[in-house]
Amino acid sequence: MTIEQLETVGKKFHDATKHSPLSVMLDPNYVDASTQPTAFKSYPNFYRRFPLDENNSVHNFIRLTSAITFEKKYKYDSYQLRVNPSAGALYPTEIYVQIRGIKGIVDGIYHLEVATDSLTLIYELIDDGLESYILPNCLVKGLIFLVSCAYFRSSWKYKNRSLRYCFLDSGHHLGAIEASAYLYQKDIQVIFNFDKIALNNDLGFENKEFVTASVVSGEIKSKTIRKLRSPLPFVSSTDYFEVNPLIEAGYKATVFQDFKNNLFPNKNIVLQSPPFSYQLEQFRETIITRRSARAFKRGEISQLEWLQIWQCLTQPLLTISKETIEIYLVINYIEGMESGLYRGLQLLQSKDFSEKAKYLCVNQALARDSAVTLFLTSTYSNYQTAMQAAGWLGQRLYLISNYLGIGCSGIGAYHDDEIQEFLGTNKDILYVIAIGR
Ligand SMILES: Cc1cc2nc3c(=O)[nH]c(=O)nc-3n(C[C@H](O)[C@H](O)[C@H](O)COP(=O)(O)O)c2cc1C
Repeated sequence: MTIEQLETVGKKFHDATKHSPLSVMLDPNYVDASTQPTAFKSYPNFYRRFPLDENNSVHNFIRLTSAITFEKKYKYDSYQLRVNPSAGALYPTEIYVQIRGIKGIVDGIYHLEVATDSLTLIYELIDDGLESYILPNCLVKGLIFLVSCAYFRSSWKYKNRSLRYCFLDSGHHLGAIEASAYLYQKDIQVIFNFDKIALNNDLGFENKEFVTASVVSGEIKSKTIRKLRSPLPFVSSTDYFEVNPLIEAGYKATVFQDFKNNLFPNKNIVLQSPPFSYQLEQFRETIITRRSARAFKRGEISQLEWLQIWQCLTQPLLTISKETIEIYLVINYIEGMESGLYRGLQLLQSKDFSEKAKYLCVNQALARDSAVTLFLTSTYSNYQTAMQAAGWLGQRLYLISNYLGIGCSGIGAYHDDEIQEFLGTNKDILYVIAIGR
């Protein structure tokens, strides 16, 4: 498929999952909570498990990409929130990690079992591994993460719209990996264009789970590695499953298929790590305590804080896949800045648009009472990648805001066409995020 075809195909699925005042009225997403599919994948007991050791920095790097950080128990129920946010707290994403050449750890592919804070060894490596799907003719001494989506966890509630949430949540998970890598001073590069379909088959995902991205962290050497010598058996990531044809088609249609002709990242390409300047202990605390704001008090944020936030958002993403995200802003309460609509830092119209922003975000007060509401837009060449880039920036925004003591919330529910009209753009609206006091 050519880039132009991918672009139009992506747009077709974006358009098919738009919200409008009418669509929200007709389908308000009410679900019977007791029918929620399980949010944690667990491989059968006969697989070997290794509890993550708090004194091991590789284990900690892996653990902090996905850890449970908040738990609330009720009489009949409990819920657990994690380092990564997720639309509706449904957590469709899973993490797998290939570990090779690290002392004290068996070379293999592991599933990160978030519920028990352990690694399940699902495949032992010999002369084979994930490189052959992701970085042909290379060997990675270190880690290769895979982010996947067990999409029914999200489509159970959000139906077709969850195609977006799967990609955005994957992007947030990439941001969580970036943050943990920063904390443990590991280099990473994210790869989107690889043979995901072959990998889904060989990992035994059937149609129920799909790989969205991979993250390489380690030394890349020239060597030919074989494909997995035997495919893995199917293990369900939910206790039951209902097919969603649009999501499956949307994933397949937006997956790279001409990756053979693409420039693969290789050891000669050095990506410049963004110059974040977090104080490490405070940043660790921020990763662990990050939460979504549930309401804002219409308080102001300082210009200095805003500049730090903006700088963090405009740092390049650690990937050779280039999808450009253009950010529009409705500024309500930033010291020294006029209220109004901005494209980047350029004022387009000076006015109080707080009520308008609330309306556009399906009447969510967060968008009205924020200091600033951000609209992430794009004319992408690959929709799947662009949505993940938006989610990744979202995770950066959560972390820098929370680090500065400012609240943040992703907003996935909004009226697409009306926002485009309001911003005066043809670019698709990939994500909305609000920050404030
Ligand atoms: C892609 C995405 C979309 C979201 N959309 C909304 C939204 O429209 N409204 C809202 O109040 N929260 C939204 N959230 C926040 C989630 O509800 C929140 O992440 C989840 O409840 C987990 O809580 P935590 O972020 O505090 O860990 C969204 C989060 C993500 C990642």
